[in-house]
Amino acid sequence: MTDDTTSLSPLDEDGVAAAVARAQEAFAAAHTRDELKAARLAHSGDDAPITAANASIRYLDKADKPVAGRLMGAARKEIQAALAQAQQRVEAEEEAQMIASDRVDVTQPVQRAPQGARHPLSTLVDDISAYFASIGWDIVEGPEVEHEYFNFDSLNFAPDHPARQMQDTFYIEGVEHIRSSQPSEVDPQPGLVLRTQTSGVQTRSMLQRGVPIYIACPGKVFRTDALDPTHTPVFHQVEGLAIDKHLTMAHLKGVLDHFAQAMFGADARTRLRPSYFPFTEPSAEMDLWFPQKKGGAGWIEWGGCGMVNPEVLKNVGVDPTVYSGFAFGMGLERTLMLRHSIADMHDMVEGDVRFSLQFGTTGRGN
Ligand code: DAH
Repeated sequence: MTDDTTSLSPLDEDGVAAAVARAQEAFAAAHTRDELKAARLAHSGDDAPITAANASIRYLDKADKPVAGRLMGAARKEIQAALAQAQQRVEAEEEAQMIASDRVDVTQPVQRAPQGARHPLSTLVDDISAYFASIGWDIVEGPEVEHEYFNFDSLNFAPDHPARQMQDTFYIEGVEHIRSSQPSEVDPQPGLVLRTQTSGVQTRSMLQRGVPIYIACPGKVFRTDALDPTHTPVFHQVEGLAIDKHLTMAHLKGVLDHFAQAMFGADARTRLRPSYFPFTEPSAEMDLWFPQKKGGAGWIEWGGCGMVNPEVLKNVGVDPTVYSGFAFGMGLERTLMLRHSIADMHDMVEGDVRFSLQFGTTGRGN
């Protein structure tokens, strides 16, 4: 006997019976493997009172040992039996539950022709085009295989500008046969590239349409970037260009704010940060106020903009002392990521219809 009143004596018939009853109750109350394991450890594990009582038999007087041994043996047998039974029941219950949750309702109608979904980028292009049409601008497209001249030179990129390097730009070779004419004003020099920006549509359109001009130009652009969560070698931009008499940076800011509100809701705000682009002067990065920004609300870069550089106007025969205007350009993938909190660009290029379906079969998000 010890004087620890909480420990169970291997000779205490009532105490042992009560411990067995508690174990049986606990096993019966378990409905998952985890619950049963916890009950097993509590009532027949190394620290269970019954285990300690069994271990203490060896300290008893010789005459008491057989009595205690029989009592404990019977008790442990009962506990093991109750445990085995509970184990069988819990396994059966879990299996029944699994079968129930996996059940296929063969009476459900099947979808015989799976319905596709519009890619959300296509919908975004439509939304943007509709917006600019609503403020009276024309929607203009340019070629994806572009003259180096329109992509770079006409936009005042110096011949040694880093964007022209092979690391950034896909150059096209052996395509002389697709050229429409000898070098001329609209087909000025031999180099062809996959356009790296939609900005070339600015100069192309001013040559073709003259000024005043108000255009928005959505389209694909290409850079030799590897695919990662925030880059793809093929992506989309929208370009805006407004040239008229007396246009100022205030008009630019007004259009950007209005456009941001059309894209992101009435509370959207933009700010301009000084920057540099060869084809604008002054130039700015345009940031969007983004309440859901990781780590707290803040400004996120949305695109570039500025007042069209007089050199660019001169390149297309427009007199910069009479006409002025502004331009801007932003990435559409980025716009979509901001609009719908999409974290990874892979989703946009993998072509998994389940991605597009989240925006509805017409591609419209809500
Ligand atoms: N073309 C620029 C780019 O791809 C974006 C850009 C910046 C467009 C400023 C513009 C502009 O029209 O004014 O990074």
